[in-house]
Amino acid sequence: MIILITGTRTGIGKALARHFLDLGHRVVGCSRRPSTIEHPEYTHHEADLTDPKQVKAMFRSLRASHGSLDAVVNNAGVATMNHFMLTPDETARHLFDVNFFAVLSCSREAVKLLRRSTEPSPAILNVSTVAVPWALEGQLLYSASKAAVEQLTRVMSKELAEFGIRVNGLGLPPVRTVLTRTVPAEKIDALVQRQAIKRMCDTDDVVGPVEFLLSPQSRFVTGETLFLGGVH
Ligand SMILES: NC(=O)c1ccc[n+]([C@@H]2O[C@H](COP(=O)([O-])OP(=O)(O)OC[C@H]3O[C@@H](n4cnc5c(N)ncnc54)[C@H](OP(=O)(O)O)[C@@H]3O)[C@@H](O)[C@H]2O)c1
Repeated sequence: MIILITGTRTGIGKALARHFLDLGHRVVGCSRRPSTIEHPEYTHHEADLTDPKQVKAMFRSLRASHGSLDAVVNNAGVATMNHFMLTPDETARHLFDVNFFAVLSCSREAVKLLRRSTEPSPAILNVSTVAVPWALEGQLLYSASKAAVEQLTRVMSKELAEFGIRVNGLGLPPVRTVLTRTVPAEKIDALVQRQAIKRMCDTDDVVGPVEFLLSPQSRFVTGETLFLGGVH
C-alpha cells in the first residue's frame, strides 16, 4: 500500500510511519520541520498544512512521485490546555486551522489520489481524542476542533461511499508525546483512572487498530470513530 500519514516528525505519526514501513508499505509523511525518519520507502514533505498552497504543492509532488494513494491518516494536530476565558482568538483559530481545516483540505486533495487506488478498500483515518466524549474542562478549543473532525468523519463517509472510499476515526486516550509533555503527571493519571483499562496507552496500542481500519479487513466499517482504552 501507499500510505500518507500527516505529522510524522514525532509521536504517534512517527510510530505509525515506522510500523507501516516495517510491514513493507510505502509511506509518505509530512510536518513543518525536517524528517526524523530515514528509510528507502519513506518520502517526507516539509509543509505547513494550515497553508492551502503548501497542501496543494505537497499533493502535486505526491501525484508526480507516487501516482496514487491507498490510505491516508490525518494525524497532525496541536493542543492547548487552557480555560476558554484565557484562550486568545488567535490560538483558537490556529487550533481549528490545524486540527480541522487541514484535515478537510488534505482529505479533499487525497480523495483525488485515493480514487486511483487499485487496493480493494481505500480508506481515510482521522485521529480524535477522549477530550470529546469526556468534554474535558480546559480543553474547549481542542475538543471542539476534534468534535468537528468526528462529524466530518461521519458526513464524509457518506459522501465518499460511492467512490468506494471509507472514512473512520480513532479516538485516543492520553499517550506520552510532545503534545502531552507539559501536562502534569497527576492530571494524566486521573484521566488514565477514568479508562476501563487503567494503564497509559502507548503507540504500540495504537498501531493495531490503525492497521485494521486501513486494511480490507474493515471493508464494511465506515463513519465510525473507534475509542481505545474503554472510555465510555
Ligand atoms: N498524545 C496524546 O495524548 C493524544 C491523545 C489524543 C489524541 N491525540 C492526537 O494524536 C495526533 C498526534 O499527536 P501526538 O501526540 O503524536 O503529537 P506530536 O508528537 O506533537 O505530533 C504532532 C505532529 O504534527 C505535526 N504538525 C503540527 N502542526 C503541523 C502543521 N501546521 N503542519 C504540518 N504538520 C504539523 C508536528 O510536526 P512539526 O512540528 O514539525 O510540524 C508533529 O509531527 C494529534 O492529532 C493529537 O490531537 C494525541
